[in-house]
Amino acid sequence: MLAGFIRNEIAAHGPIPFSRFMELAMYAPGLGYYSAGKTKFGAAGDFITAPELGSLFARCVARALAPTLQELGSSAQIVELGGGSGAFAFDCLTELAALRVMPARYALLEPSADLRERQRERLGALPPDLAGRVVWIDRPPEQDWQGALFANEVLDALPATRFSMRDGEVFEEHVIDAGDGGFASIDLPADSFTANAVRHVERDLGHGLADGYRSEVLPQLPYWIQAVCGGLQRGMALFVDYGYARREYYRSDRRDGTLIAMYRHRAHTDVLARVGLQDLTAFVDFSALAEAGKGAGLRLAGLGTQAEFLMANGLDQVFAEAHASADSETARYRLAQEVKRLTLPTEMGDTFKVMALER
Ligand SMILES: C[S@@+](CC[C@H](N)C(=O)[O-])C[C@H]1O[C@@H](n2cnc3c(N)ncnc32)[C@H](O)[C@@H]1O
Repeated sequence: MLAGFIRNEIAAHGPIPFSRFMELAMYAPGLGYYSAGKTKFGAAGDFITAPELGSLFARCVARALAPTLQELGSSAQIVELGGGSGAFAFDCLTELAALRVMPARYALLEPSADLRERQRERLGALPPDLAGRVVWIDRPPEQDWQGALFANEVLDALPATRFSMRDGEVFEEHVIDAGDGGFASIDLPADSFTANAVRHVERDLGHGLADGYRSEVLPQLPYWIQAVCGGLQRGMALFVDYGYARREYYRSDRRDGTLIAMYRHRAHTDVLARVGLQDLTAFVDFSALAEAGKGAGLRLAGLGTQAEFLMANGLDQVFAEAHASADSETARYRLAQEVKRLTLPTEMGDTFKVMALER
């Protein structure tokens, strides 16, 4: 169905940019990976995110946000982008209630109707005082607001533009109908939107990218950040994702970019296969995020690894509390495993970064 939908678009308009292919593969209403009913998270799905491992991650984030919410007072709100299964919102609100720092409302901006339903079900199990603060919004708040914006693994899911270098010129990867039921990619000269985003990267690196080099950019990021953070008058935006600073992202030996497909916990590079059944994701250029934040008038307040962030925000304490109240050896073992997954450099600890922007 989805493949047919994309094939029709290609038949009508010619080769489509890879970013458009990714947008449709992930978000075509009712058909895309995130829009349809497939199990995505956890053991039965394709990947597991930090909030799905247990409550420790969300509890530390709640502790990181609490001082900002407290300082801003009773009108402060939380806006979470891409709430997934609702696990993060559930544990974050529970921890904030325990800390006695309640946001006036907790707004979830979730483009997937399927995930919105799952979030409703999950968050309906919160005590009424907490559940009553949760709302779903269709677009970022346009009115001025104060509080905290949070997004875990959302930037990596934004449709990425794939580019390559040929004879010093920027080309953009497009997708065509392979004619055998599948899709294939071709490179076409990039438009100025994409070419200028790549030239900006080259200028900032201080050198050109080599012939044959292929990677990703998000030329839309400044507009996106302006859209999601524009109304935030005072407070903090926290983005957690796998990624690198620009110099590391565009290292000369990373010649084929960072884009991968995730299918049943296996990462692979056949990104045009199993359309709608596998997750597509690219690492985040955190330098680009900082620039986009600055463009939207936000200050860079911090960038660190997930391990550093969690340890600075009470991981030892929330672990000790959870350990003390665990009722079995299995539960205690799971908690120890959760800490390892969240913090070890070979797991999520180093690859995932946390960037805080402030106004
Ligand atoms: C990899 S999942 C992460 C889910 C959740 N944050 C977690 O950590 O488990 C990506 C999420 O981002 C959402 N998403 C994608 N594009 C978005 C956008 N433009 N605005 C808000 N959410 C978006 C997806 O629907 C999905 O909920």
